[in-house]
Amino acid sequence: MTEQSAKFTLGDKAAALHLRSGTIGPDVADITSLYKDTGLFTYDPGFSSTASCESKITYIDGDEGVLLHRGYPIEQLAGSGDFLETCYLLLYGDLPTQREKDDFVYRVTRHTMVHEQMSRFFTGFRRDAHPMAVMVGVVGALSAFYHDSTDIADPHQRMVASLRMIAKMPTIAAMAYKYHIGQPFVYPRNDLSYAENFLHMCFAVPCEPYQINPVLARAMDRIFILHADHEQNASTSTVRLAGSSGANPFACIAAGIACLWGPAHGGANEAALNMLSEIGTKDRIPEFIGRAKDKNDPFRLMGFGHRVYKNYDPRAKIMQQTCHEVLDELGIKDDPLLEVAMELEHIALHDEYFIEKKLYPNVDFYSGITLKALGFPTTMFTVLFAVARTVGWIAQWKEMIEDPHQRIGRPRQLYTGAPHRDYVAIGERG
Ligand code: SDX
Repeated sequence: MTEQSAKFTLGDKAAALHLRSGTIGPDVADITSLYKDTGLFTYDPGFSSTASCESKITYIDGDEGVLLHRGYPIEQLAGSGDFLETCYLLLYGDLPTQREKDDFVYRVTRHTMVHEQMSRFFTGFRRDAHPMAVMVGVVGALSAFYHDSTDIADPHQRMVASLRMIAKMPTIAAMAYKYHIGQPFVYPRNDLSYAENFLHMCFAVPCEPYQINPVLARAMDRIFILHADHEQNASTSTVRLAGSSGANPFACIAAGIACLWGPAHGGANEAALNMLSEIGTKDRIPEFIGRAKDKNDPFRLMGFGHRVYKNYDPRAKIMQQTCHEVLDELGIKDDPLLEVAMELEHIALHDEYFIEKKLYPNVDFYSGITLKALGFPTTMFTVLFAVARTVGWIAQWKEMIEDPHQRIGRPRQLYTGAPHRDYVAIGERG
């Protein structure tokens, strides 16, 4: 890493801003001493120009549409690997040997059950509660059950908590789904792969054997890979900020789930499918394109645009291929939502407004059609995103905790409220 500096002067005040280069990507100007040296804060409410941390986990080149996990392109991981291998890579930094992989799969598999008393948590929710509301509550409650892995100062407990989160999220997500539809919970099975186990826990019923479809299981596994991690997105930044106070990992992941729920973030897959359903037919697309361009209309094309990608989201391409694979396997021909999606994408990518603003489909644009075809209701789409993203949240949380320079995150502000004024007795007001 090279060290240079830039000089910042304001009147008689000056600060040396050390420039630091990463291995790839933009350099950063270290402003840690700016306030001490000049009395100035920087202002960047959406963090568009602000690096919140140093990380070795994931790198995105938004202009080139590149996504690397520990240096490996997402296309190669999704094409040749599986989700638990990607989990190992994100957590430990390198692809596992066969022995390391087998050991990791064995350890994760044997953490998939949840404490039997957790099943009682669900009965406190209305059956029609949004599954994301259930996930926030039940995952936060994990810290009430697993006290033996909440001491974040203990590396062993950090790893146990990490394995528990990765292993138990599918079980809790499947329980949220079963509770939502009024079916009995299905226990995890150690003879199934991660994705097979998840589909089994969601769609098996006690009355008959559930047949795993290998094509659908592979598609599910690939969807998990595509959603595993994504630099310092809103929910990951939430997990890091929560973790910076020393909160236990289960509580931090619950905070990440809450943030992911928003329609501008992980809730976009549910919103995108609802939008495609609302459009309904190709002839209504121009009406919605017009609304998306209308500054007076809050409507946005869900599944389009991205803070970082100003080119095609590489995950969206793989998601589209997976969508076609699933629809073909299920014999779903001429899916009206897919027809609308592909026509909408074609029109938007040739529209001046979207070209000028560099708005491309993101990972959420095709995921909804795929997840619907797999049998999930739209309310479960963001839950599946949370299941996959848990490994990214945990890997980033661990990296933050293990960073010797880590301090509690405490942003400052530009204050534009009332200056000092004295209290006035109520009888003298007005
Ligand atoms: C995810 O950060 C991550 O990495 C997130 C994620 C991950 O893996 O963690 O990739 C997952 O959250 C993907 C994004 C899913 N969200 C959506 O699909 C919702 C629709 N998209 C937008 O809300 C928006 O594009 C964001 C939130 C994704 C990005 O917003 P930015 O970066 O703050 O951009 P912006 O809102 O400032 O938009 C820039 C311009 C604006 O016009 P002007 O004010 O400059 O005139 O583009 C316009 C916006 O109005 N615009 C859109 C649009 N997205 C942006 N116009 C129409 N439709 C859209 N979808």
